[in-house]
Amino acid sequence: MKSYWIESVSKEKKTFPKLEQHEKADVCIIGGGFTGLSTAYYLSKENKSVILLEKSEICSHTTGHSTAKITSQHGLFYDYLIQSLGTKQAKQYLEANEKAIKNIEKIIKEENIECEFEKKDAYVFTQKEEEIPKIKKEVEAVKSLGFPAEFVDKLELEMPILGAIKFPNQAQFNPCKYAQGLVTAMENKNVRIFENTKVVDLKSKDNIYEIIAENGKTINAKYVVLATHYPIINVPGYYFLKMYQSLSYIVGVETKKEELNGMYINSELPTISLRSVKEGENTLLLVAGMDHKTGEKIDLSQSYEKLIKVARQIDPSCKVKYQWCTEDCISLDKIPYIGEFSSLMPNVYLGTGYKKWGMTSSNVAANIIVDKIMGKQNPYEEVFTSTRLKPIKNYKEMGNMLKEVVNSLVIQKFKVPIKTLKDIPKEQAKIIELDGTKVGIYKDKDEKLYGVKPVCTHLGCELSWNNLEKTWDCPCHGSRFTFFGKSIYDPSIKDLEIIEIEEN
Ligand code: FES
Repeated sequence: MKSYWIESVSKEKKTFPKLEQHEKADVCIIGGGFTGLSTAYYLSKENKSVILLEKSEICSHTTGHSTAKITSQHGLFYDYLIQSLGTKQAKQYLEANEKAIKNIEKIIKEENIECEFEKKDAYVFTQKEEEIPKIKKEVEAVKSLGFPAEFVDKLELEMPILGAIKFPNQAQFNPCKYAQGLVTAMENKNVRIFENTKVVDLKSKDNIYEIIAENGKTINAKYVVLATHYPIINVPGYYFLKMYQSLSYIVGVETKKEELNGMYINSELPTISLRSVKEGENTLLLVAGMDHKTGEKIDLSQSYEKLIKVARQIDPSCKVKYQWCTEDCISLDKIPYIGEFSSLMPNVYLGTGYKKWGMTSSNVAANIIVDKIMGKQNPYEEVFTSTRLKPIKNYKEMGNMLKEVVNSLVIQKFKVPIKTLKDIPKEQAKIIELDGTKVGIYKDKDEKLYGVKPVCTHLGCELSWNNLEKTWDCPCHGSRFTFFGKSIYDPSIKDLEIIEIEEN
């Protein structure tokens, strides 16, 4: 099932051509989610010429699959930030995200974007007694930064709540409608967008970058923005050593109940996040959560059912209309990486590691990146400094990187004993070993077999099968592939090797 947001714009969605000729611009942005689009939008105001390349369609990945809460409340986070970075940077983080809410509202008003933007309070709640002290501590931490958070012990939710921290005046919207509005606002400006254009390489010569697409067409640009969810360049930068990815699931249920007045997320595990949206006469309640590290070998079979159970606590007669899954990058210190990609690649910038709070973080990133390109100091940049980690010590991973330069698509044939194939249930997959080679085999509902080499094309980790989404997921840095081997989530940019399966 598609995400509700993507479905809601499917009729009026603007489409863009594939890059079919060599081009040049001041800035080349790689990635058409919120970071890329917002950066392009702000650059268009600065009269820069911009080319944005998206490997599939605008907002078809993380942006189009989020819960679209626009908030500076990123779970219980500010006490942690004060403890680890001190008050100054914690305040910077909070103020940057608060400013992002205002920036988004300003764009919506100025550009007349109809995207169901609504002001709502945001809450982190708990149903566990032992979480209460943490929530109270967070309230004090946030107040110490000058923000009017408060502790409340009652919520509108029809579930037993013991306490919550409230952030007033946050917001929610429809991210795909907002994205369409941004695209419209950039029409007739010096911004050109190309969809279905996968970037496979980046070279530099005489202070100009050459960005190379899969079909060999190139963009020449002085500045490059990596807005690709997960950076697609491994070296330098080494972001794959500093981030992991996490999957979460969302169900959208139709209910006759009124829209929620607030937006909610719990503090304990498993994560449960709630918001609602008006859909015609009815309300669509979105329940998200059940997060886990991508590729983790755990039983996922009940993930959606557990979210539906939460929805039924709120309305026993609700009807499931949507379910989808999303993936987010999380940095090891939980703070996004925004700014210079690496001191070895001047004029290349990135925004990543938003840890599921991409609506505001992408706006923060766009503003910092645009200020850098325009040579201005941004008041919030310090806390997000992307080159903040110490030199890499993980030589094992660095060795693995060499594997990435090998082969792209190689077709191999394997004869597999009938008995082994019979043991794979329909609509499930298994990794089997044949003559010392591992083969991942998926059997569809008509018993058609799809074979792949279950080795991630990023840095060579063995993939895990995700039976809920029918994807091959990488436990190392979170790349994901369809059952027929197509790369769908970064950092991998190459498809899996296909293995033809024959019965023996
Ligand atoms: Fe890095 Fe798979 S995503 S090895």
